[in-house]
Amino acid sequence: MNPESQNVLDYHGDNTIFMVWNFKSNTEIGDAFKSICALVINLNNSGSTRFPDSGTSCVMGIGYDVWHRLHLPDPPPKEFENFVPIAGKKHTAVSTKGDLHFHLRGSSSSICYDMASAISDVLAPVAISIEEIHGFRYWDGRSILGFVDGTENPRGDDRAFFGLIGDDDPAYKGGSYLFVQKYIHDLNAFKALPLQEQENVIGRYKSNDIEMPDDVKPSNSHIALANVGDDLKIIRDNMPFGNMSTNEMGTYFIAYTSTFSTVKKMLNNMFVGSPEGNYDRILDFSTPKTGALFFAPSVTFLKNIISGATETAVVVPNVKSRSLSADGSLNIGSLQKEAGYE
Ligand code: HEM
Repeated sequence: MNPESQNVLDYHGDNTIFMVWNFKSNTEIGDAFKSICALVINLNNSGSTRFPDSGTSCVMGIGYDVWHRLHLPDPPPKEFENFVPIAGKKHTAVSTKGDLHFHLRGSSSSICYDMASAISDVLAPVAISIEEIHGFRYWDGRSILGFVDGTENPRGDDRAFFGLIGDDDPAYKGGSYLFVQKYIHDLNAFKALPLQEQENVIGRYKSNDIEMPDDVKPSNSHIALANVGDDLKIIRDNMPFGNMSTNEMGTYFIAYTSTFSTVKKMLNNMFVGSPEGNYDRILDFSTPKTGALFFAPSVTFLKNIISGATETAVVVPNVKSRSLSADGSLNIGSLQKEAGYE
């Protein structure tokens, strides 16, 4: 039976909260982790029961370091790693730490707020919230730069193909690599460009969102460099955000993908350039302040942690204890077989 995935393939909602939490060191975190897995499932079930057409969704991603701290299955997903910065001559995709990432969507901001609040109640005693971005749908799906964002996203069945891990990593089938970056834009500089130059930065016409013909589209435009081929796509669910008082106008870039190498290829093209030096002009107006890779496991994986299924169906010999260890790990490092991941 195929594992049930988290809601990573859904289309944009109108309201989003993105949160990143880091666990405190020298703290028992196993119980809180179990509770948060249960809460994520509860929030999704409750949201779809109470507000059926609201697009309520809570997706949780787990960072590489805490995966090991919790002794989650080893080996981890094949392409899971701590994101290594990608430095071009002028711009760098920085790497920042994150233990848990939450992507909260809903038609009303009340829904997102309540989910964030419930998550905070569970995590606050053992973890610190290091990032919280409230994203909103800007007009007809535009980024804060004024261009429609998401047009070339995969649709229909292609979404599962490009967004979910398949049979090539059977232990983690139904999960997704989740990559995020918080970009701050120099909006004044971008707005000061004449319309045609803005369009040259993106590679599409601004008002009607039509792609420039290949012989017109600059080779350093965003879509010329981010497009790495029809067989290498990702699911993007970027959201704009803006705060006048701090002058922080940005894009929260978020991608779900079956292979992290595809994202790296896009980032290399954008930051290092293709050919080298021909970097993405969007970066002259957009600075990544964060960058982190998480793994969003299937719901089946989360349920196995909560139910303790990992504690009973012993397949792997020499696993002595299933209780929480002193360091708060879940002692399920070698239990992927019993959880149905092998
Ligand atoms: C500064 C943050 C970013 C902004 C404001 C932005 C905005 C946009 C816009 C307006 C488009 C054109 C419409 C569309 O097809 O969606 C686009 C396309 C695209 N972007 Fe971005 N983007 C950002 C960062 C990134 C990053 C970091 C990646 C990859 C790691 C990426 C990957 C893509 C891809 C794959 C496409 C579609 C290219 C095509 O096939 O035409 N974007 N983006």
